[in-house]
Order: sequence, then structure tokens, then C-alpha cells
Amino acid sequence: MSSYHSSGRLSDNPMAIEAWFMDESREDKRLPHHRSPPEFVSLDYLAELGVLYWHLNPKDYENDEELQKIREDRGYNYMDLLDLCPEKVQNYEEKLKNFYTEHIHGDEEIRYCLEGSGYFDVRDKNDRWIRIWINAGDLIVLPAGIYHRFTLNTSNYIKLMRLFVGEPVWRAFNRPQEEHPARKEYIKSLVEKVGVALEAH
Ligand code: LAC
Ligand code: NI
Repeated sequence: MSSYHSSGRLSDNPMAIEAWFMDESREDKRLPHHRSPPEFVSLDYLAELGVLYWHLNPKDYENDEELQKIREDRGYNYMDLLDLCPEKVQNYEEKLKNFYTEHIHGDEEIRYCLEGSGYFDVRDKNDRWIRIWINAGDLIVLPAGIYHRFTLNTSNYIKLMRLFVGEPVWRAFNRPQEEHPARKEYIKSLVEKVGVALEAH
């Protein structure tokens, strides 16, 4: 019997995000792309890659003290809202195509899902794609220099809050970017994390 609940989520815990290793098929990017059998990825593993996660109340984003605290702690003074639907976005198809082209940024990518859902895919240390399923209430931070991409899923709608430290820079650098300073810094941080883990043993 399948352990999926009617919501389609594997877990009963709305506080947890779901992430999994992707299959290699060329099917529609908006489908889940689970491996067979599915191989889920833990929050701890995402944290090792530098991906941070919070679950907040998306209905309260205007007065949410928890969100306020995260913004203060991390210096996220810039905020805007992005409604990804054809009516509200100029060059919709082109934007979505760019979002799904593997890239890095020179800064963190911070996205808080207020409505709808979608997939952020990130590369792990062995260059495997991990698909992170974002639903209303999920706030994720992708570190500068991590290869990633974004797609809508079959719900075809997402409303995102975008946060940034200072004046936002949306510029994407498509792979390969091995000489980009943010990429080098990121690779260094991964090696240092492995070093710390080894010392602890
Ligand atoms: C991006 C969109 C999803 O920057 O905000 O990838
Ligand atoms: Ni990006």
C-alpha cells in the first residue's frame, strides 16, 4: 500500500519539507520525477549542502514575528512578492525557461512560498539533482554558489516572497561557473563542513 496521504504529501507533519533524488527521465519537468522506488532526502542532508529551511504561517506574513526575526537575524531588509502566473508576469514563458536553466547566483536565493507550490532543484555534492517541493509556508534559503533551478509543478501557480540583503541582484550565471568566486567559496564551505564532521568522529 502506498504511504501517500490524500494531500499527496508523504509525511503527516506539515512542518517538514519533502525532497528527493530525481530520476533521469526527460518527462515533463512539472511532474515529481521520483526515482523508483522513491529516494527521499532529509533536512539534515539539505543543511549539509547549505540549504536552510523554515516553516511559517503563510496567512500571517504581514505580521509574522517569526519571519521578522529571521529577516533581522539574517539582514534580509529587501522584500517583494512574485506571483507566477501568465497574467501577472511579463515574458512569462521566457522567465520560466530561465528559472529552469541550471545556474548560480553571487548571493543567497531566499524564497518564501505564500500560495501554490513548485520545485526548487539543487545539485548535491555528487552532482545529483535533489528536488525540493515547496508549499505554502515553506521558506528556503539556497546558498550563494549552489547550482540550482526552479519549476512550477502541475498546480501551475506559486506566489513567492523574495528576500534579499540590500539592493537585490537577480543576475543568474548559467553553468559552468567553476571560476566564479561564489562557486569557489561554496565548494570551500562544503569541504570545511566535511572536515568538521570527520573531526567529530
Ligand atoms: C527564481 C524564482 C523562482 O528566482 O524566484 O528562481
Ligand atoms: Ni536562482
